[in-house]
Amino acid sequence: MPENLLKGKVGIITGALDENSIAWKTALKVKEQGGKFVLTNAPIAMRMGAIKELAEECNTIVIPADATVLDDIEKLYTEAKEFLGGDFDFLLHSIGMSPNIRKGRSYGDLNYDWAMKSYDVSAISFHKMMQVAEKMDIMKKWGSIVGLSYIAAQQVYPFYTDMADAKALLESIARGYGYRLGKLKNVRVNTISQSPTKTTAGTGIGGFDSFFNFAEKMSPLGNASAEACADYIVTMFSDLTRMVTMQNLFHDGGYSHTGISEEIMDQFKDL
Ligand SMILES: NC(=O)c1ccc[n+]([C@@H]2O[C@H](COP(=O)([O-])OP(=O)(O)OC[C@H]3O[C@@H](n4cnc5c(N)ncnc54)[C@H](O)[C@@H]3O)[C@@H](O)[C@H]2O)c1
Repeated sequence: MPENLLKGKVGIITGALDENSIAWKTALKVKEQGGKFVLTNAPIAMRMGAIKELAEECNTIVIPADATVLDDIEKLYTEAKEFLGGDFDFLLHSIGMSPNIRKGRSYGDLNYDWAMKSYDVSAISFHKMMQVAEKMDIMKKWGSIVGLSYIAAQQVYPFYTDMADAKALLESIARGYGYRLGKLKNVRVNTISQSPTKTTAGTGIGGFDSFFNFAEKMSPLGNASAEACADYIVTMFSDLTRMVTMQNLFHDGGYSHTGISEEIMDQFKDL
């Protein structure tokens, strides 16, 4: 394994809820590679307390912030800059939530207030984090910003309901802001489209076990784990990927480009 890929780099990691979270694994890998960071999550997630243990393990602090609230983001950046001693090299947006999914509403029966909440939390917050970063001029030159997406942005997964639309918006924001921050400061912006992963957000989706198992059998490399995703995020924060921007990068063991696999075909042989 290469070492110290992130030596001297500092940034913000959102979304570490518990040890299954993609952001949790990312924090540990970023630390392992010499990066320093502040952890943040919605104030409600603090009550669970687990994130404080992660902060201790990573010698850092937790600054609560609702990623949909501009004032919270501004306060987060101001305090994080003070703690880290300067502007940021990386930002991880690892945030998703849909009240419609939580409450089992189908795509044909969306509560639109809740849908707006899904879009705000899961997609527009990515724009808000970048807009506040631009206004505060807080990203260093050649910095890297990553959001996490899912293939439901391109293909229909019926149980993913309004989160599919949120992910399509998230990926579009990565392109729009990638252009802007690229021109302004050579900062790159990408989304990583991750395999189904057993986390709180993942397993909350109806039918999760079925599409987790299906994807496992479809992907030539199998499903990508949260740890593997964290490794990929580290490379995206490192100087090895400086010219990659405005991309949606599939991190899915080959799932997105597989039409059918032998394992799936076998299951339909005798029908
Ligand atoms: N798990 C999967 O199958 C999967 C697959 C592809 C992409 N993703 C994406 O990965 C990202 C991380 O999710 P995860 O799977 O690690 O699950 P997770 O539940 O561990 O993380 C989601 C996080 O979003 C945070 N959050 C919710 N509302 C917030 C708000 N208003 N402000 C700040 N934070 C808020 C939660 O507290 C939580 O920490 C999400 O964008 C998710 O959609 C997950």
